[in-house]
Amino acid sequence: MSATAQVKALTPQAIAARKGGAPVVCLTAYTTPVARLVDPHCDLVLVGDSVGMVLHGLPSTLSVTLDMMILHGQAVRRGIEKALLVVDMPFGTYEESPQQAFRNAARLMAETGCGAVKLEGGQSMAETIRFLVARGIPVMAHIGLTPQAVNAFGGYTVQGRGEGADKVRADARAVADAGAFSVVVEKIPESLARAITGEISIPTVGIGASPACDGQVLVVDDMLGLFTDFRPKFVKRYAEVGRIADAAIAAYAADVRERRFPAAEHVFPDGPAGGIAA
Ligand code: KIV
Repeated sequence: MSATAQVKALTPQAIAARKGGAPVVCLTAYTTPVARLVDPHCDLVLVGDSVGMVLHGLPSTLSVTLDMMILHGQAVRRGIEKALLVVDMPFGTYEESPQQAFRNAARLMAETGCGAVKLEGGQSMAETIRFLVARGIPVMAHIGLTPQAVNAFGGYTVQGRGEGADKVRADARAVADAGAFSVVVEKIPESLARAITGEISIPTVGIGASPACDGQVLVVDDMLGLFTDFRPKFVKRYAEVGRIADAAIAAYAADVRERRFPAAEHVFPDGPAGGIAA
C-alpha cells in the first residue's frame, strides 16, 4: 500500500457528504483481482463477511473470523486506489462491549489499512458506534435484515413490515445519532426505506431496500453470476460469469482428453541450456 493511494482514496467524510446527492456506488470484493475490477467504478468497496458464504462455502456468516476478514481485507487493499475500503466486523467480535469492539476494529484497521469498519445492529449498537467514532474509527452501520442475526430472525426474511417499521426507523436514527458515517439498509419495504432516507442525515446504502436509498450495494459474485447457490429477489445479474467459466473449463477438459491441448504454440522448443524461456 502506498501513501499516495491512501491520500487519493475517498474518505468516510466524502461518502457522508453525498447525502441526497449523486448515488453512492458500492460493491463487495474479497480478492485483489476483483478489487482492481471494482475500484475504478465504485465509491466504496466492502469486504463483507458474506465472504464466508461466497468464497468459503459456509452455510451462513456466523463462523467467519477476524483473521479471515484481515486476510481478505489485506488482499482487497492491494487492489484499491480510489474507493473507500470498508471491512466488516464478524459475528462475536464486537457485540460484547465497546472495548471489545474497539480492540478488534483497531486490529482490522491497522492490519488491513481500511478506512472504516462496518458492524450490524441499530439501537443495541449505538453506544458501541459512539465509542468507536470518538476514538478515531469511522463506522458504517447495518440495519434491517442483519444476516448475523439470522437465527434470531428465523431466516433471511424482509424486515420492517407492519409494526416492525418503527423499530427499523428507531435503529436508523440511533446509528446516525451515534456518529456512523453511513448505514447499510437491507431487505426492507420501499416506503420504509424512503422514510428513513428522508429522516436521517447520513447516506442510506440499500440492498433490497429500493431506489429510495442514497446508494446501493450488491455482493459482486451475485451480480456477476458467479455465486449461484441461491439468488435473492433484490439481485440483478449483470453477467453470467459462472456460465462463461463453466464453458471454458469444459472446453479445456475436452482439449486435454482429446490431446488438442497443449498445442505447438504452448510447447518449448529445444535450445541452449539456460536460454531465455519463450
Ligand atoms: O457481508 C456483506 O457482503 C454485506 C453486504 C451485503 C451489505 O454486509
